[in-house]
Amino acid sequence: MFTANGYYSLLQGSYLFSEIAKRAAAFSSAHPEADIIRMGIGDVTRPLVPAVIDAMHKAVDEMAHEETFRGYGPEDGYEFLREAIVRRDYLSRGIPVGPDEVFVSDGAKCDVGNIQELFSSDCVIAVQDPVYPVYVDTNVMSGRSGRFINGAYEKIVYLPATAENGFVPEMPKQKVDVMYLCYPNNPTGATLTREQLKSIVEYAIENRVLILYDSAYEAYIQTDSAPHSIYEIDGAKQCAIECRSMSKTAGFTGTRCAYTVVPKDLVYRDTFGNEVSLNKMWFRRMATKFNGVAYIIQRAAEAALSDEGYRQILGVVDDYMENARIIRTSLADSGFEVYGGVDAPYIWLKVPGGDSWAFFDELLTRYHIIATPGAGFGRSGEGYLRMTAFASRANTIRAMERIREGRAL
Ligand code: MLT
Repeated sequence: MFTANGYYSLLQGSYLFSEIAKRAAAFSSAHPEADIIRMGIGDVTRPLVPAVIDAMHKAVDEMAHEETFRGYGPEDGYEFLREAIVRRDYLSRGIPVGPDEVFVSDGAKCDVGNIQELFSSDCVIAVQDPVYPVYVDTNVMSGRSGRFINGAYEKIVYLPATAENGFVPEMPKQKVDVMYLCYPNNPTGATLTREQLKSIVEYAIENRVLILYDSAYEAYIQTDSAPHSIYEIDGAKQCAIECRSMSKTAGFTGTRCAYTVVPKDLVYRDTFGNEVSLNKMWFRRMATKFNGVAYIIQRAAEAALSDEGYRQILGVVDDYMENARIIRTSLADSGFEVYGGVDAPYIWLKVPGGDSWAFFDELLTRYHIIATPGAGFGRSGEGYLRMTAFASRANTIRAMERIREGRAL
């Protein structure tokens, strides 16, 4: 007799961004005249840059001719893209990553969820708090969380990274096996200094902890000294997997392309005591469960990483970062305590009254602005709200005007 996976029953409510979309849709249908400004989910609004569009057109034409048509591609990505990634994102910073350590996929969200197939079922998971909900929910689904008690899962180790500790988590006192880190951070917008990241890497090496480093927002870093990759730190290839995404870097949220670096140095014992390579395991997993990202999309991603494409996508990033500056300064001028928005497209603000869902509702109903309540990112997110810099410039300015003027619409 079939039995369903009971761990899904341990999930709390619906996925954060589905819940927000549901509340926004309900408000919109009750108030069809409301001119809603969306600053909730981190979804881009600017079109793909010309270099990317040209490459896509060219690849579409190739698919129209027998001589250039492509069927199944390599499961881990075409070599042309893996080499472009290595050149642009690693070798340019003096980081020795090989193309055979890069795995191209259709999204960082999928990768951070799927990668745990490499973890034994009894691995103890540590996450920053507040946290991107995917890290927690996917571990709940696979049975590593225990029950949800007093706002937290009993078997997950939460590492508060809050305004009080400068958004740098203290390393766990108890034994953990895997630690999820995200910098530039979603949702707080914070970054780590090289020294801070170095001491985390040292902790991980000393304690044989595997770090899952999500650097999906690295292109947004403006501070010259801030590390873009965990592999800028000596020894990190012995303890870290890094996930990157073209979504926020190149506007691929709807186009779908990302990649994960699984270094060959990551060698551990498995449940049976065998010495195993995570790189080989991940390749095996991709070959078994994935047939690769579409050729057209991989050509588009390659173009985004070319000299001209990269210049164009950084122009878009600068544009979003100007939105971030506008949000940060106008909220601060309106008397809010504001964090982030300097090296990341997210602004993290302290909400008056301390109830983030109540403030979410107030913003929606009074100002017709959608943001993301901090409580949706975990216990330490309560009392905060996240705004994205991904709206159009005009909408960003209008949203700030609405808040500044405090007017009921
Ligand atoms: C966010 O808003 O946190 C992200 O856009 C969600 C995602 O990338 O899946």
